[in-house]
Formats: sequence, structure tokens, C-alpha cells
Amino acid sequence: MDRYAVVGHPVSHSLSPRIHAIFARATGEALEYSVLEAPLDGFDSAMREFFASGARGANVTLPFKVEGLAFAHSASERAKIAGAANFLAARDGRIEADNTDGAGLVADLERNARFSIRGRRILMMGAGGAARGVVAPLLAQAPALLVVANRTPDRARELVGRFESLGPVRAADLASVPREGFDLVLNATSTSVHGEALALPREALSRNALAYDMAYGKSAQAFVAAARASGFRACDGLGMLVEQAAESFELWRGRRPATAPVLEELGPLRA
Ligand code: ATR
Repeated sequence: MDRYAVVGHPVSHSLSPRIHAIFARATGEALEYSVLEAPLDGFDSAMREFFASGARGANVTLPFKVEGLAFAHSASERAKIAGAANFLAARDGRIEADNTDGAGLVADLERNARFSIRGRRILMMGAGGAARGVVAPLLAQAPALLVVANRTPDRARELVGRFESLGPVRAADLASVPREGFDLVLNATSTSVHGEALALPREALSRNALAYDMAYGKSAQAFVAAARASGFRACDGLGMLVEQAAESFELWRGRRPATAPVLEELGPLRA
């Protein structure tokens, strides 16, 4: 049976095996998808061993996405732009990298959250790896403005510099977010994952704004609850996880699984 895994550290909590098992059942594809915890300093050797044993592909999660890109023989344009890969596939003895995170976020916003990005004003909080992976796919949907606000403003400026040619993107200091009436605020910082609270810059948002945490489940609970308490519509990133998984599944198997049944089944886990 074709073998796949999600590789991370820690990774035991990952929902990816469950998601791919549902996809496999629904599409009738015979595959096995497990978790693989690589040592923090041992991603390369774990991956070499994994693929040498005949495995077909892997999803790469924290903290290995940058190493995932470096590990591959070749990479898609979107993975190169992101500087990170969450997807590896073995093809003809070579490892190919891709990044399906941005496509997952866009699909979740557009399809599941019914938020149309075109012409809207987006505030992204955070300028680390998670943020970098989704900037180009967001700009490809032609928002009116994308502001990247970071605690360390220099890092936001550095990130914005990489994407300026792709659309209207600007950097800002998270401590003084411009009041631009944002329609969407994305939490792309690592605060939720680390169990820290991140304040919502309420004055910078439009009254109908959607607050979206790219983390999911318990991690995203504090941010989502605070946004709702302030009267905003809010959701976690479970849909992004499921949509990036569907994109990965299609790249591996050539078949697009439906995501709605998975979201329904995992719904109780949502923040
Ligand atoms: P990831 O791959 O999860 O994005 P990262 O590359 O280490 O992780 O980036 C973490 C991001 O979360 C950064 O934007 C970081 O801000 P700094 O660049 O100023 O460090 C942001 N972040 C982490 N903790 C934060 C906090 N308590 N408040 C605000 N931003 C925080």
C-alpha cells in the first residue's frame, strides 16, 4: 500500500492522518498515512530513511517547513516564493516539494467562510514562516490592500520587500496598526500555538471584519473567543488544514476529495 506521513516535532496531536483516512475512504484510494516525529536535528536523515523505504510522500509541519524545501530535488514556484514546503512527493526517484498552505487558506476563506478576498482590506499579524507561506496566494486573489504587521517591524519590512512586485502589500508595526478599516484580520503569529494571548487591534478593523486564526482547535480558542466577545465574526484554521490536505491529496493521487464531510466530522474540534 502507498505510504504517506506528516512529519513534525511535536506531531502526535496532528489531525492529518484522520483527514487523509477520510479522503482515502471517500475516494476509494488505497493508502496509509501516519505520523512521523523527526528529531529536531534529524529531519534530513529521517526523511532519507522514510523515502528509501518506499514511501510516496509527506506533509511537513512545524518546525521543518524550511528544511522540507531544502531537502527536495526540485520545488514548485509557490514553494520557492514561500521559502518553505509543507508537501513532498517521491516521483521517479526524485523528491519534489510544494506548498499547499496558501491555497488551503484561500480555499477556506472563499469556500467555507464565504469571505471573498478580491477588493478587500487584509491585516496579517505576524511575519514568520507561517505568514510568509500565504502572502503570495493572498495577493493572487487581488485584495485592495494587505498590511503585514509584526512585533518586530523590520521583519515585516523584510517580508514585504519579497512580495512588493506581486500586489499592494505594506509593512506595519503591530504596536501601532494603521486604522485602515480592515475586512479581515489573520493571526499568523505563533502566539496561539505557544498558548500566548494576542490582542486584537479592534480600532483598525471594520465592524463586519472576520478574525481568522491560522492555528486551530484549543490553540486558537483564546483568540477566537476574544474576537467574538468584541462582536466580530471569528474562526480558527481547521478549514485551512483540511483544504491544504485536500490540495496535497490531489497532488499525490490525482483526485480531489470533498472537504465538506471532513469539516463536518471534525467540526466539534473547532475553536
Ligand atoms: P512561524 O513559523 O510559526 O511563523 P516564526 O517564524 O518563529 O514561527 O514566527 C513567529 C511569528 O509570531 C513572528 O512574526 C513573531 O513576531 P517577531 O518577529 O516579532 O518575533 C510572532 N510572535 C511570536 N510571539 C509573539 C507575541 N507574543 N506577540 C506578537 N507577535 C509574536
